[in-house]
Amino acid sequence: MLHPAKRRGFAFYNACLYDLNMVSTSEIRNKYLEFFKSKGHTIIPSASLIPENDPTVLFTTAGMHPLVPYFLGETHPGGSRVTSAQKCIRTGDIDEVGDVTHLTFFEMLGNWSFGDYFKNEAIEMSFEFLTQKEWLGLDSRLIAVSVFQGDEDAPFDDEAFEKWKSLGIPEQRIAKLPKKNNWWGPAGETGPCGPDTEMFFWTGNPGEVPESFNDDNPLWVEIWNDVFMQYFKNTEGTFEPLKQKNVDTGMGLERVVAILNGVDVYAIDTFAPVIQKIELLTGKKYGDGDVDTRSIRIIADHIRAATFILGDNRGMAPSNIGQGYVLRRIIRRAIRYAKLLGFHKEFTAETAEVVIEMCSDVYPELKNNKDVIINELSAEEKKFSAALDKGLKEFGKLTSVDGKSAFDLYQSYGFPIELTEELSLERGFVIDKKLFEEEFKKHQDLSRTSSAGVFKGGLADNSVEVTKYHTTTHLLHQALRDVLGPHVEQRGSNLTAERLRFDFSHNAKMTDEEIKNVERIVNENIKKDLPVSFEMLSIEDAKKSGAIGLFEEKYEKLGNKIKVYSIGDYSKEICGGPHVEHTGEIGGITIQKEEAVSAGVRRIRAVLNS
Ligand code: SER
Repeated sequence: MLHPAKRRGFAFYNACLYDLNMVSTSEIRNKYLEFFKSKGHTIIPSASLIPENDPTVLFTTAGMHPLVPYFLGETHPGGSRVTSAQKCIRTGDIDEVGDVTHLTFFEMLGNWSFGDYFKNEAIEMSFEFLTQKEWLGLDSRLIAVSVFQGDEDAPFDDEAFEKWKSLGIPEQRIAKLPKKNNWWGPAGETGPCGPDTEMFFWTGNPGEVPESFNDDNPLWVEIWNDVFMQYFKNTEGTFEPLKQKNVDTGMGLERVVAILNGVDVYAIDTFAPVIQKIELLTGKKYGDGDVDTRSIRIIADHIRAATFILGDNRGMAPSNIGQGYVLRRIIRRAIRYAKLLGFHKEFTAETAEVVIEMCSDVYPELKNNKDVIINELSAEEKKFSAALDKGLKEFGKLTSVDGKSAFDLYQSYGFPIELTEELSLERGFVIDKKLFEEEFKKHQDLSRTSSAGVFKGGLADNSVEVTKYHTTTHLLHQALRDVLGPHVEQRGSNLTAERLRFDFSHNAKMTDEEIKNVERIVNENIKKDLPVSFEMLSIEDAKKSGAIGLFEEKYEKLGNKIKVYSIGDYSKEICGGPHVEHTGEIGGITIQKEEAVSAGVRRIRAVLNS
């Protein structure tokens, strides 16, 4: 019998030419790697989910991230053609997870050319893999593509356009779209980038496939992206041709497997057993109404992502900073959705066991790190569950939420403000954030010493020292821009109770004088005892306000708003917090070291003066 999800997906049509059984994820992964091996590519293993050499991102979000040096001319040990299935985490879509195409953790299939083949061959290979019977066998009449239309930075990609035409894709199925759609990279302010061509598959009734392609129609689902990395965006914001022309492609494995089976991503072989486990544990039927179905999907997605982060060989424990904070947030969100299902027992470890069981043959690190995964999940679940139950009960009694009640929920039950926001939205309450902020400030000293911790979800391990260092990094970031120029951007940050480490983009070693000036400016702003506050702004308003910071790291996004911290009039930066209330609390700092991290990235180490 078909899993109920099969009848609820975005596609009812089985697109695959061989349709006797469900196509498995392993089968498609193997086919992809085999195909590109037959085209002279070396199969390389998935890199860690936690980037080793790329401080511009928290997680590996695409197969190309670990490969950036090779686009710039380094020699890859596997040669000039490589292929992989890469573990990826994308948190930008966290609010959309629960629909039928977005996942937090997914595998990306990719093939790369480092100055080897370019547009013609890349497109030919993509088309062959998509349409030939021995590979995916998709019907080419249900395929549409898009190419870069050209602008002041780079011309229309007529080479890609002509290539698709020569392969039989009709002109009206080749959309010419702007940078917003058909351009990839760079991940940071500078780096390799270029136009891309995207491939879409019609997931509706094949008899109703429109003659022309319109990327607004959700039945056209993007399945593959071939990026032609031929430019380098430099610090002036202009696009220089790269010495070496590269190809970077990415295909979402789960999505393709779903399409081949005519189901949604949650019904494929690597997900269905997780869904079934959640059904079994909670007694809720998947497919029994949209609210429960969405909750089950969110739980399955988040526990799977948490299992892969904890099980990574460079794995992270839940914490309040960086990757650890994202991990904490997704575990807690899964727990909250279990409560929404009316389920109040522990479930995270048992659910993770299913993920470990199913995925360890391809990712043995999951089995090897099983104890860590299970113990960390259970500990986080215990920490959060009891308080959440009580808090939800309290919330249920409210008829409106103001700053004070939001703060009370936080203070008494470790209720993260995001959760209060989400619950309020569901009930049509509006939170007065100003009042919350005032209330929060009034009680800040109390909350600092309470076991609930400083901010965001009962963060007991967030020491006062780390908070001071965190605020210092904002001052440092701005001071570096003042002294070195506006090209300075954060590339990474690592805080402990003993020191801060701050990575930033800059091409030269800092002089002693520059270091002294930066240190002096930071200390002057500490002395001024500037007030620290935050406001919630839309991304657009945040940009308009001149806030600096990583706009891509949307994990701090609440609804459509992001949090922007101001330190007096001196600094404005996108950030989740926490921070000190006044800069005077920091006392003063000393820069101990300034050194290179990688090409164009410098690192500062600084300590608080005791
Ligand atoms: N980097 C491109 C993407 O993620 C292709 O791999 O879509």
